[in-house]
This record gives sequence, C-alpha cells and structure tokens, in this order.
Amino acid sequence: MPAGGEADAPLPANLRLWDNDARIVLRALPEASLTRVFLLFPDPWPKSRHAKRRFVHPANLSLVARALRPGGEWRIATDDPTYQAWVAEVFAAQDFFVFAPPRAARPRDWAPTRYEAKALKAGRQPLYWRLIRR
Ligand SMILES: C[S@@+](CC[C@H](N)C(=O)[O-])C[C@H]1O[C@@H](n2cnc3c(N)ncnc32)[C@H](O)[C@@H]1O
Repeated sequence: MPAGGEADAPLPANLRLWDNDARIVLRALPEASLTRVFLLFPDPWPKSRHAKRRFVHPANLSLVARALRPGGEWRIATDDPTYQAWVAEVFAAQDFFVFAPPRAARPRDWAPTRYEAKALKAGRQPLYWRLIRR
C-alpha cells in the first residue's frame, strides 16, 4: 500500500469493535442510527436444510432495516452461487429495501477483504449488492 493510502489513514475516533453476534448490536442500536451496513462474504450455509443460519434471512431483514436510516445502504458481497441466488430470492419477497441487480466488480468505495481475495484467487465470481432502505 503506498504512503498516504488506506493503510496509513488514522483510525476514526468513533471506531468500535464487536467480537460477537452482529444481531446483538443491531438490536441494541437506536432506530435509524446507521448510514451503512456491510455484510461481506457471510458464511454461505449452502445446504438448504441450513438456510435458516444464513445472515440474509427473512428473520434478519427487519433487524438491519430498523437500524438503518431511510436512504441508508446495506451492502452485501458473496462469491457463493447458492447464496447469490438466495439473496435475489429473499430480497424479491420484502419491502424494506429497494433491490437493484448486483455488480460483478467491487465498487471503489468498498474495502477489499481477505475472504474476497481467496475467492478471486480460486476463480470464483463475487457479486456486490447495494440495498437502499426505503
Ligand atoms: C467467510 S467469513 C468472511 C470474513 C470477512 N468478512 C472476509 O470477507 O474476509 C464469515 C465470517 O462471518 C462471521 N459471522 C457469522 N455469523 C455472524 C454473526 N451472526 N455475527 C457476526 N459475525 C458472524 C464468522 O465468524 C466469519 O468470521
């Protein structure tokens, strides 16, 4: 990373880390308090009998929707074909978010992740969604 790049940027003063289930934080946050939520390469749970463990799940949509302000974004990336089809299916059946087709290249204002690098190296195609809170 060249000097002056992301790696050298000062950490924001309001940075907080939560090393536990994200759903606990989402429930605890004030309503409409977030501008963006990133869900990057969630565990795919590819077997259909495990679908209830996927983070993108009808039961979790209201948690994210409550914490996001109107116009806020939920950004999701996954390289797993089953999960990609699942995201399209779950968001087709809800009213919290405006659904738009995903991109096949990471937008410039998204941070890369370790898992994404592994997926690309293995030849898998990630997809990137921006869901806008109504
Ligand atoms: C495939 S890894 C991807 C990690 C990282 N986002 C990346 O792209 O390199 C999925 C991660 O999601 C975490 N995870 C799964 N369910 C979670 C939950 N409910 N809350 C917070 N983290 C969760 C797992 O512990 C694991 O570290």
